[in-house]
Amino acid sequence: MKSPKSITIRRPDDWHVHLRDGDMLAAVAPLTAKQFKRAIVMPNLVPPVTTVKAAVDYRARILAALPGDTSFEPLMTCYLTDSAEPDEIAAGFEENVFTAVKLYPANATTNSDAGVTEIRNVYGVLERMEKIGMPLLLHGETTVHNGEEVDVFDREKLFIDRTLAPLIEDFPGLKIVFEHITTRSAAVFVAEAPATVAATVTPHHLIINRNAIFRGGIRPHMYCLPIAKRERDRLALCKAVTSGNAKFFLGTDTAPHPVHAKESACGCAGIFTAASALELYAEVFDEEGALNKFEAFASLNGPAFYGLPVNEETITLVQGETIVPEAVSAGGETVKPFRAGETLAWFVQE
Ligand code: NCD
Ligand code: ZN
Repeated sequence: MKSPKSITIRRPDDWHVHLRDGDMLAAVAPLTAKQFKRAIVMPNLVPPVTTVKAAVDYRARILAALPGDTSFEPLMTCYLTDSAEPDEIAAGFEENVFTAVKLYPANATTNSDAGVTEIRNVYGVLERMEKIGMPLLLHGETTVHNGEEVDVFDREKLFIDRTLAPLIEDFPGLKIVFEHITTRSAAVFVAEAPATVAATVTPHHLIINRNAIFRGGIRPHMYCLPIAKRERDRLALCKAVTSGNAKFFLGTDTAPHPVHAKESACGCAGIFTAASALELYAEVFDEEGALNKFEAFASLNGPAFYGLPVNEETITLVQGETIVPEAVSAGGETVKPFRAGETLAWFVQE
């Protein structure tokens, strides 16, 4: 009998996760820590993580939620506000507390109401970050332009033209990660941008297009921000991540919300992939005939961009059926994973 296909790679890192807090943190952090060695932890808690002290405390709560023998390393981020102090942010970076700064345009997504209202307001902080080599992570969506609400499917493109392109000109030395890109425009833009600009890509944006949100009815578990776009966008993202271009790396944007908050008249944005993230990505790379590019995307390109060492441990993914859990319990609540109950074509060898 032919042995199943398998692939052994350096242990990957997840460059974009939402671990939340309290019972939810306790439920989801072990899932991320099981698959990944390190993760960039997003700061959009309530209240957001804006100070070095808040990040130190949050990091301690994350580690307390994990088994004692874990070697997982949470990499903390600072939530940028209009009134952020360059000194506080630089101190957090120099003390190895903050790995990066996250910019949410105000009201663009979950818990972003304290985000930046006008990019000029944070130019002082960005100048300092450029000087000290601290990466800026962008939620790349423009929601309002010339006083008008921007179409939800056009927000990423407008962000590139109005905010990102000028930002790169104004701060040629600033490391920028365009997070969870969803469009062909973004994939092309990043590929052609200077070496200071990179992007993360989620598993779900490689798998679904916007039809998935409306297939046979409204499907709240397929709703996230930035929202999934057209099939041609999905194909461009698949091409980008399997191209071998070092500017693209893994960031799941796993974003758990309790089922009742998703299945509601006003359901929250966020897709929860932590339970099967690597299996989902492996399936995409396999289907693209590009498993030989998977290690670069999952384990090499991110550390190279952030200036961190690659992980020494390895993991092995094997072709074979695995079922995504129907639900994950978090305290008294449940969270529904992306593709819950479905069979995937790869599993991580224990
Ligand atoms: C994220 C969340 O729930 O925190 N939601 C999402 O749809 N991706 C926030 C974010 O990353 O935009
Ligand atoms: Zn996110």
